[in-house]
Amino acid sequence: MDLKSLIRDIPDFPKPGILFRDITTLLRDAAGLRHAIDSLADKLDGAGLNAEYIVGIESRGFIIGAALAYKLGIGFIPVRKPGKLPSLVHSVEYELEYGMDKLEVHQDALQPGSRVLIVDDLIATGGTACATAKLVQQIGCELVGFGFVVELQDLAGRQNLPDVPIVTLVEY
Ligand code: PRP
Ligand code: ADE
Repeated sequence: MDLKSLIRDIPDFPKPGILFRDITTLLRDAAGLRHAIDSLADKLDGAGLNAEYIVGIESRGFIIGAALAYKLGIGFIPVRKPGKLPSLVHSVEYELEYGMDKLEVHQDALQPGSRVLIVDDLIATGGTACATAKLVQQIGCELVGFGFVVELQDLAGRQNLPDVPIVTLVEY
């Protein structure tokens, strides 16, 4: 299935000069959504990562990450934007393609040694995924890999990530 044909391009969103790769059109397509999740799960299974938890990044990473966790039969842990999680948090600051932000995870969600797979819908500069990697590694987790539906290769985000397997489905 041609997943790229289900992803819509929106010029100048959210700022002039950004070509936004909109996955909402993929998500609303039942066959496309199923194919995306199944394909990502197959590739991750093939990589033999043996993750215990998916750490999914707010907000589009929740959609892909939770579906993938269900498919893989493992737990899902949300990494959220500031002030959203109700219990004690660890936090990290990071840079976006279009601004600065902060991410948080519950302190008791992960333990040292937990085998973690970080999932998001898309990797651009890699800032978000890299910050999330720092967050889980600070806790002492074993980062086993990354999974993304979309990779924007021109931004070379994977070069900013730790040296673990990176699984992607659609490249631009
Ligand atoms: C988008 C996307 C990734 C991140 C990728 O999220 O979902 O999380 O940007 O960019 P990077 O590789 O340059 O860090 P955004 O912050 O726009 O939030 P959203 O998921 O809530 O739309
Ligand atoms: N997140 C960061 N850059 C993006 C882009 N160009 N399209 C969609 N999501 C993004």
